[in-house]
Amino acid sequence: MSALLSQRVQRSFSRSFHSYHEAACPQARIADLLVGALARAGAPARFGSVLELGCGTGHLTARLQRQFDCPQMTLNDLSPAACQTARQYGATFLCGDALALDWPEVPSLIASASMIQWLPDPLALVRRAARALPEGGWLALSGFGPGHFRELSALGSQAQAPGLCPRHALAAAVAPDLDVLACGEDLLPLYFPSPREVLRHLRRTGVNGQARQNWTRARLARFEAAYRQQFGTAQGVSLTYQAVWIVARKPVGAAPIRKSASDGAASPCGHVRHRGP
Ligand SMILES: C[S@@+](CC[C@H](N)C(=O)[O-])C[C@H]1O[C@@H](n2cnc3c(N)ncnc32)[C@H](O)[C@@H]1O
Repeated sequence: MSALLSQRVQRSFSRSFHSYHEAACPQARIADLLVGALARAGAPARFGSVLELGCGTGHLTARLQRQFDCPQMTLNDLSPAACQTARQYGATFLCGDALALDWPEVPSLIASASMIQWLPDPLALVRRAARALPEGGWLALSGFGPGHFRELSALGSQAQAPGLCPRHALAAAVAPDLDVLACGEDLLPLYFPSPREVLRHLRRTGVNGQARQNWTRARLARFEAAYRQQFGTAQGVSLTYQAVWIVARKPVGAAPIRKSASDGAASPCGHVRHRGP
């Protein structure tokens, strides 16, 4: 992660840390999805040591602790403000860029929700996590796909995160080391009364870390008109999150099960869901 991007993302999330938790309802639903997928994939009731990357205000942390016995958790985040999260959940805090830091050895679960999109090379982190797990260790991770915030992309906004990646890329990145047990994609559309409310949502959740737009009155008026025209619906203007996620496990004493490209229907990568508001 470049120093400039890292500073910008850190500033953006630190600034919005207090508004994030309430405003980030898609991220809360994504954390639900991920923990649900982990439980359905047959995860054990207890993880001896958990490493969570990009914990933020703890949407995923809370759900992991509710679902599983996690006696030893290490929470990482770029933003020092997330130290509060670690305190709240009785965890050790590891502050800094997840890709650059040393990790605790042999975590039985590496988890991360809605963070890897901030990395210029998210798959480097995914591959590192796959290698770091011991035999029998679990990975549960979500990011965002290329269709994330399609409305903003269509309108030429610079607010997109740099590391969007399709779900099959997540599966391919871990395949040399892990068995992929589940892998999916969910579209989560939100509806707002106006394009200005969309911008407010982006500010409150800190997900506009990349945006460097100078909003003159004329530019804002053009943006609002185009947004309403292209993405106005009876429910309001849309903003669509495209979550991608994966649950995988390092095999015990054997090479991971290889899936050929023709495995299509049987592949755990087949899951796509569209969710209403
Ligand atoms: C959208 S929030 C998600 C937080 C939480 N996992 C959730 O599901 O609500 C993304 C978090 O990742 C953190 N982050 C971004 N880049 C990071 C990096 N390179 N290393 C560690 N944390 C990072 C941000 O500071 C922010 O708290």
